[in-house]
Amino acid sequence: MTVPLETSVSESKATASRGGVFDVQKVRADFPILGREVNGRPLVYLDNAATAQKPAAVIDAIDSYYQTYNANIHRGVHRLSQLGTQAYEEARGKIQRYINASSTREVIFVRGTTEGINLVAGSWGRENLRAGDEVLVTHMEHHSNIVPWQMLCQQTGAVLKVVPIDDRGRLDLDQYEKLLSDRTRLVSVVHVSNVLGTINPVRRIIDSAHQVGAKVLVDGAQAVPHFSVDVQALGCDFYVFSGHKLFGPTGIGVLYGQEAILEAMPPYQGGGDMIKSVSFDKTLYNDLPYKFEAGTPHIVGTIGLGVAVDYLGALDAVAVARHEEDLLRYGTELLESIEGVRLIGTADEKASILNFVIEGVHAHDVGTILDHGGVAVRTGHHCCQPVMDRYDVPATARASLAFYNTRGELDVLAGAVREAIGVFRS
Ligand code: ALA
Repeated sequence: MTVPLETSVSESKATASRGGVFDVQKVRADFPILGREVNGRPLVYLDNAATAQKPAAVIDAIDSYYQTYNANIHRGVHRLSQLGTQAYEEARGKIQRYINASSTREVIFVRGTTEGINLVAGSWGRENLRAGDEVLVTHMEHHSNIVPWQMLCQQTGAVLKVVPIDDRGRLDLDQYEKLLSDRTRLVSVVHVSNVLGTINPVRRIIDSAHQVGAKVLVDGAQAVPHFSVDVQALGCDFYVFSGHKLFGPTGIGVLYGQEAILEAMPPYQGGGDMIKSVSFDKTLYNDLPYKFEAGTPHIVGTIGLGVAVDYLGALDAVAVARHEEDLLRYGTELLESIEGVRLIGTADEKASILNFVIEGVHAHDVGTILDHGGVAVRTGHHCCQPVMDRYDVPATARASLAFYNTRGELDVLAGAVREAIGVFRS
């Protein structure tokens, strides 16, 4: 039997952006779904912050696993189990190199960003927080970076503090510095806001937090799809992200943690694979990273994520960044030129989010009209109700971009927005 364990991206997929020129049509051809129609129109997929599309290489790797070497890992001496284990651990190595973690022991596979944050709250947080301690988050956090800390504070008597944001969606860094104190035990901050697009100065945030002895968790779910992240250069204690926003499968994500911190943390869940030995008298826990990976993991998701990272690594990062910047600038100008449209989130340091409201039209109605035109955007509160409250809107429409989007698609978006305004104003 030939087992296609080759989970790296072929050369043909790697050439779309070589030489500094970004060939977006060539890249688009790698994503089968982008060729489909919706409601009789070509799909214009602008909901990448909710989930990104998958290149054929990822889909093929998933197919190949189930077709040719599906087996449980870390548990079998038989050939298929060994192949699965090898592919799973190779994927861990790919992620380690992708984020420049110093060791694979620092790369924990979880279900996604949400589980990564809950793991830190449930393990590190319960172990280290006492009544009166403080956890600092910002006003632009996703619910998944608010609620776990609220729950932890209820359990421990710690206090949650919130760093304010200004009208353009920038963190108030002066307030941040003032909120830091020797009571601050943890700062948990989003790298790129899923709703405002703001890129936060996490390096500075981390340095300041460390000066008061606090740990820092960075929610990188919306950052890793847009630029490379070096966890050692950042100096963060924890970094979390989801695979499905990084062009990989759903149900898989990564918690990076500095080894010494992870080493000192108790397990988050008990079960198979996270132990060295079990008896009714005493159980010995496994080494990192397995201590935090109880039960059968999402094997194929991990393998698929590894292939997604290969795919991204084969693109010219500079050309991709230039293309995304161009799209953001172009889309911003288009939407700003439409009377009645108000952009929410206008920081200078911004990535790939066009979040807007139309005076007098509910965001869900905007979304429905856009969908008729084949345009997929997210509408609602984007799991950030405090941000909606901050800007006094019940909901927004959000176009979120990926490197496979085009200026032409943004023209379609703008046309559909004009149509929505026409329909609801007439
Ligand atoms: N957090 C994801 C979003 O922003 C689901 O849409």
